Amino acid sequence: MSQHMDNIPSTPGKFKSDKYHYIHRFRSHSSLAKLILWSLFFFSVICFFFLLSPTSPTSPPADRSRRVLANYTWGGPEWEKKVRQSARVRSDHGHTVLVTGGAGFVGSHVSAALKRRGDGVIGLDNFNNYYDPELKRHRRDLLERAGVFVVEGDINDSELLRKLFDVVAFTHVMHLAAQAGVRYAMQNPKSYVNSNIAGLVNLLEVCKSADPQPAIVWASSSSVYGLNSKVPFSEKDRTDRPASLYAATKKAGEAIAHTYNHIYGLSITGLRFFTVYGPWGRPDMAYFFFTRDILTGKPITIFEGPDHGSVARDFTYIDDIVKGCLASLDTAKKSTGTGGKKKGAAQFRIFNLGNTSPVDVSKLVSILEKLLKVKAKRRVLPMPRNGDVQYTHANISLAQRELGYKPTTDLESGLKKFVRWYITYQSKSKKKSSW
Ligand SMILES: *[C@@H]1O[C@H](CO)[C@@H](O)[C@H](O)[C@H]1NC(C)=O
Ligand SMILES: *[C@@H]1O[C@H](CO)[C@@H](O)[C@H](O)[C@H]1NC(C)=O
Ligand SMILES: *[C@@H]1O[C@H](CO)[C@@H](O)[C@H](O)[C@H]1NC(C)=O
Repeated sequence: MSQHMDNIPSTPGKFKSDKYHYIHRFRSHSSLAKLILWSLFFFSVICFFFLLSPTSPTSPPADRSRRVLANYTWGGPEWEKKVRQSARVRSDHGHTVLVTGGAGFVGSHVSAALKRRGDGVIGLDNFNNYYDPELKRHRRDLLERAGVFVVEGDINDSELLRKLFDVVAFTHVMHLAAQAGVRYAMQNPKSYVNSNIAGLVNLLEVCKSADPQPAIVWASSSSVYGLNSKVPFSEKDRTDRPASLYAATKKAGEAIAHTYNHIYGLSITGLRFFTVYGPWGRPDMAYFFFTRDILTGKPITIFEGPDHGSVARDFTYIDDIVKGCLASLDTAKKSTGTGGKKKGAAQFRIFNLGNTSPVDVSKLVSILEKLLKVKAKRRVLPMPRNGDVQYTHANISLAQRELGYKPTTDLESGLKKFVRWYITYQSKSKKKSSW
């Protein structure tokens, strides 16, 4: 099949001279009509094969070399075997879940938790270098030891997604892959559009065409509340004033998700996470780099709002978030469509997952000083207007009611676990010991 495809000239210009030559030879109108008919016929045959052919398992990346995402190697009998094994359900009524962003902070924790209770899990991650990919590889190594295979690939790659759905009939998709970070959007705006919008649409396209359609749970963000000043933030509050491109792409994602729910009957649950922290967390988050900088004696910058107002976050511990994610999967109703056709109304939900107790960033630093037994070199600056909001506070009564969600970890206990992990991780990394 791939050989056949390779014979087709990739530049349309190459057809031109031949075509004019033929037109010249076949003068009469009927011949021209025939020619057009035949061209149409061949064109549709080519399209037909192109649409039908998944990458053949024995020739993975060769014919994909022209693609932007060509560097990932996937496919082949060994690969498929690993995918099937990892997706095998070991408990009664277990789910089969595709976790995008599987080597990410939340993704790796959710994958491990699902596997532990007997669900089938496949991770998908592109291991991009927004932050140290080494950390993602270490998370992957841990998951692999737990029996979770993390496929290296991109949610933007529809061929790969279709292949995964060919191999495994996923009942659920836990979509956590995203371009995160509020300030980085000013440096690299396109990565937010590619991942949070194009990638999301690509994933939903494949999901809506899958048979059976999976139920989808995905990570939106508390940042969609933007300039909303009514606290605590409740799901009904307005979300039309995002303060960052990140927030805007997440808000767009919620609108896009609604469309796919409405048109194709996909069951979709959006989760608005509030500042998730904990072991194996993201190094671009303040609690993480504050810890690093306090330990190395580097000054840390603490922002304050107008009139020396404090900046506060509703820090939410990873284990509580994981419980919320699992409860969302467990309470998700089935999608109603098949093969791209809606059969009836499908479930559409949005939940805040927060801790409901905002903590000042200066208090966060004090807790870290206490845990690390090192005094921080604090530098207080006015918060720049680059996307961060001053205050977040989740109203979680909806998640409490519908999911039984009940966070149980306060910031001090959670940070204690984070710091313990951080110190162990640093010393292991230095020794380059295996995971
Ligand atoms: C693919 O890999 C090659 C060499 O390993 C590298 O030079 C190139 O930039 C990569 N391309 C992409 C799209 O990542
Ligand atoms: C994702 O898809 C968009 C639109 O199709 C494309 O412009 C972008 O380059 C892709 N992103 C990556 C990371 O390849
Ligand atoms: C939280 O949201 C619920 C609706 O989900 C609302 O009834 C309740 O009044 C809100 N609580 C506060 C403190 O705003």
